[in-house]
Amino acid sequence: MRQLNEDTLTAEVVRRLKGVKDPRFKQIMTSAIKHLHAFARDVKHTEEEWFEGIKFLTAVGQKCDDKRQGCILLSDVLGLSMMVVALNHKTAPGATEATVLGPFFAHGAKEFGYGGDLRVGATMKGEDVYVSGRVLSVDGKPIAGAVLDIWQAKADGIYDVQDPEAELELRGRVKASANGEYAFKSYKPKFYSIPMDGPVGDLVRRTGNHHMRPAHMHAIVSAPGYQQVITHVFVEGDPYLDGDAVFAVKDSLVAKYGKVASKDEAKKLGMPSPFLRLQWDFNLSPMGKVKARRVVAPSDALA
Ligand code: BEZ
Ligand code: FE
Repeated sequence: MRQLNEDTLTAEVVRRLKGVKDPRFKQIMTSAIKHLHAFARDVKHTEEEWFEGIKFLTAVGQKCDDKRQGCILLSDVLGLSMMVVALNHKTAPGATEATVLGPFFAHGAKEFGYGGDLRVGATMKGEDVYVSGRVLSVDGKPIAGAVLDIWQAKADGIYDVQDPEAELELRGRVKASANGEYAFKSYKPKFYSIPMDGPVGDLVRRTGNHHMRPAHMHAIVSAPGYQQVITHVFVEGDPYLDGDAVFAVKDSLVAKYGKVASKDEAKKLGMPSPFLRLQWDFNLSPMGKVKARRVVAPSDALA
């Protein structure tokens, strides 16, 4: 077909997918083309604006290597990552809610047993916290053989993996006991800024919105026969809970870090006095209802 114009172009581009064998690819491409064309028509894109867009996407791509992933960061700040989580994680009632994986998960964290100390080797001190709880199925039964992948930022709000020279710190694979109980020592997380040194940072600045994430620790909780959950535990009272730069807060994931003044309790748990205590249970849905989620390799996931 020749002589295409703004009224006939979309249908022709879609028509040229007629030979595509994979139905899912065809569905995705058809919808993408229709929405992209509708978007250009809606805002009546000028050629300068189109080229600005091309330059922006090029710059985002140039912020991707084995240590950074600018495309994930863009998806996060546009709310696309949380949209995909919402569409794919309609967990059973009572199950721990999922949030974004974020760009700072790393393979190769050390393994810890009950009561393990994630602070060992940390290059910065924070407020000492003893975290403990259970991994349960949605009907409240303890799950044997659960593993918690835990990671969080240092006290300055920077993740270990943001510094290519640094060793892994404040992260671990914590094994729960046979009755589903887990415990570990760490520092209370603090709020921090998403990476702002690239085109995505420029975009966020241009919106006038802040670029902070409320304090949280990350957890991926896995157990045989159960749906893995990728989640956060947020800190009650954090000033950024209502405006997370990546839209990942759920009320059910906000936790209280209580102060423990008892010296006996500190001694019993091997903590300094006073210390903070977080008691938090994770509830998993049985496998089968929802597909398992793939953990992205760190080289794919850093921003
Ligand atoms: C994070 O929680 O580590 C994170 C998530 C999205 C963007 C930047 C950081
Ligand atoms: Fe984080």
